[in-house]
Amino acid sequence: MSKQFLSFSMEDRGPSLWREAKGIIPGGGMLLSKRSEMFLPDLWPAYYSAAKGISVTDIDGRIFKDFYMMGVGTNSLGYSRKEVDRAVIRQVRRGNMSSLNNPGEPELAAKLISMHPWAEMARFTRTGGEAMAVAVRIARAATGRDHVAVCGYHGWHDWYLSLNLENPDGLNTLLLPGLEPLGVPSQLRSTNHAFTYGDIKSFQALIDQHELAAVVMEVARGAAPDVEFLGQVRELCSRKGIVLIFDECSTGFRESFGGLHMNTGVEPDMLMLGKALGNGYAVNAVLGTTAVMDSAQRTFISSTFWTEGIGTAAAIKTLEIMSSTRSWEMISQIGMQVKQIWLQVAAQTGVPISVGGLDALATFRFKDERHNVLKTFLTQEMLKRGYLAGTSFYPSTAHSPARIARYADSLVEVFGAIAASWGDTEFEKKLSGPQAHQTFKRLTN
Ligand SMILES: Cc1ncc(COP(=O)(O)O)c(C=O)c1O
Repeated sequence: MSKQFLSFSMEDRGPSLWREAKGIIPGGGMLLSKRSEMFLPDLWPAYYSAAKGISVTDIDGRIFKDFYMMGVGTNSLGYSRKEVDRAVIRQVRRGNMSSLNNPGEPELAAKLISMHPWAEMARFTRTGGEAMAVAVRIARAATGRDHVAVCGYHGWHDWYLSLNLENPDGLNTLLLPGLEPLGVPSQLRSTNHAFTYGDIKSFQALIDQHELAAVVMEVARGAAPDVEFLGQVRELCSRKGIVLIFDECSTGFRESFGGLHMNTGVEPDMLMLGKALGNGYAVNAVLGTTAVMDSAQRTFISSTFWTEGIGTAAAIKTLEIMSSTRSWEMISQIGMQVKQIWLQVAAQTGVPISVGGLDALATFRFKDERHNVLKTFLTQEMLKRGYLAGTSFYPSTAHSPARIARYADSLVEVFGAIAASWGDTEFEKKLSGPQAHQTFKRLTN
């Protein structure tokens, strides 16, 4: 019996709605990483009607298994995790908002502080970008200094994007090339400086050159943390009275319970946790020492919807499940298994790839200059087989061994098709539409 593949057309409801949306919402949606153009420009299903476990139903009624981004890292316990949803529904029934404060705030603060012996206070926001703006504001208030140095992606706010005022390519090395700082006041020029992970000499030069309020960094992203470098950064920050902020928005609950830095022995002055913290509900946290966090009282940091109850209710329940199931070990194990599958399938079919990233934030690259075309082809062909898939994978505890085995079978077929046409000089003709966009610049066209 021949296999039934899902079929796709530009006239499907998803792609049609996406085209319409682009006329009334700049960029089409709110998050760069969810734009159709990033995956399969004309055919990506674009919108969901339901999500449960690792199943995503699109608005055309097709069901896909998510072996890609799982909400861009938000759902490490799977979509619509029953216990978390119940905690949220209880909160909704009790009332999500009132003129009085939400007692979930001190409860969540105490919980997070108890996980981090150095931390004494916490604030909450709803998004990661907000949380980083809060952290940087507090650090500037605490030190009375303006300059900051960054190494990582830290959101969309003025303080961060101002880096590109001086050097339009400043952020290129920090994940996102082609970001225009349009709309960021030119007066912020030279207040934010990039440094290269692992390069202690250039870091030293940077902190000698500027009076820094804060060093803001991801502890690691593409590989294991460089413990020696982190220790040196810690020491230099302490010596110069610079607030060291670890941004563990994406990494906080993937390899450990509360942040990659916990296995390094290096402690920051402030820490940001987000993404998986609420398993799909909006909540981010900024933790810090009292000495630094008290400055939040000397400046103005305040927002109405930071007080609603869903985010904290979701985070409290999510932390409970993560802790009792040791979810970070489960997702690391699953990620490691999928990395091995990638390597096996590549070896079996003779398609050269290299594998990278933390196990729980796994990635691979085709070792070929046509990487992006091949990635787009993979996404297109896996979609037909009922998978959201690409060259990265955010594992969740809902990825079962049986599902992973079926994903591997489909991957063998698609890699086989790539291998069969490897010598084809016009591989892009196998795409049913344009290849995925790679940079921010092209998305704005
Ligand atoms: C390390 C890091 N910091 C900050 C952010 C910004 O978070 P948000 O998209 O919730 O504003 C992200 C988002 O990807 C992130 O990975």
